[in-house]
Amino acid sequence: MSPPLAIAGRVEILADARALAARAADLIAGHLADCQAPFRMVLAGGSTPRETYRRLAGMSGPRWACTEIFFGDERFVPPDSADSNYRMARETLLENIQPRKLFAIPTDISPQSAASRYDETLRQQYGASVLDPAVPLFDLTLLGLGADGHTASLLPGQPVLQERKCWAAAVPQGRDEPRITLTYPALNASRLILFVVSGADKKEAVDRARAGQLPAGGLEPQGEVVWLLDRAAAP
Ligand code: 6PG
Repeated sequence: MSPPLAIAGRVEILADARALAARAADLIAGHLADCQAPFRMVLAGGSTPRETYRRLAGMSGPRWACTEIFFGDERFVPPDSADSNYRMARETLLENIQPRKLFAIPTDISPQSAASRYDETLRQQYGASVLDPAVPLFDLTLLGLGADGHTASLLPGQPVLQERKCWAAAVPQGRDEPRITLTYPALNASRLILFVVSGADKKEAVDRARAGQLPAGGLEPQGEVVWLLDRAAAP
């Protein structure tokens, strides 16, 4: 009997996208209400987190002064582009809070240089260049899920899925624009991974990822995994 997959994690099913965003914001705020500095938190990109971030921005409980914010991935576009994950987070959350530190992924140099710079930033903030399983890199990592089973920019069929040394990598193919993404080693080094997934188009990907398939299923988290799903996305 194979051991249970850590990626399967705990599941909460919410009635709809609004309830999902409310629950996600409440759960995140609960972790931030009593956090100690440095609380390193990874933001997910895409569109699903928008409402969650808007709700978080209006909450008084989170101790943002202890929180250091990173990004799980970025599209290689200018920070004011409509496709920028940084812009999405800035407009919904970051403009309304004062985090202890904020580390956007650079997109004003080459993709490879941006990945190398972000990788170096992560190691500097961690305080070591080798991940210690007893010392998570991130305290809370938010992740979305694509209908094809990608998470962050760990895209199907891309070499980044084999990356086990770098903590951040460039993904030159697979989407219209190059991506920069955290890699499996970095994402696995999370105390808590929170997937927030909405919509019927994600249902099969949720099921297969929780069974260890697809890029998202390739995660081997050291910490806890919680899947927040709306009813449409629940298998
Ligand atoms: C990105 C995200 C990506 C996203 C999923 C889901 O840059 O697009 O980081 O991993 O979380 O594609 O996207 P939606 O929330 O838009 O469905």
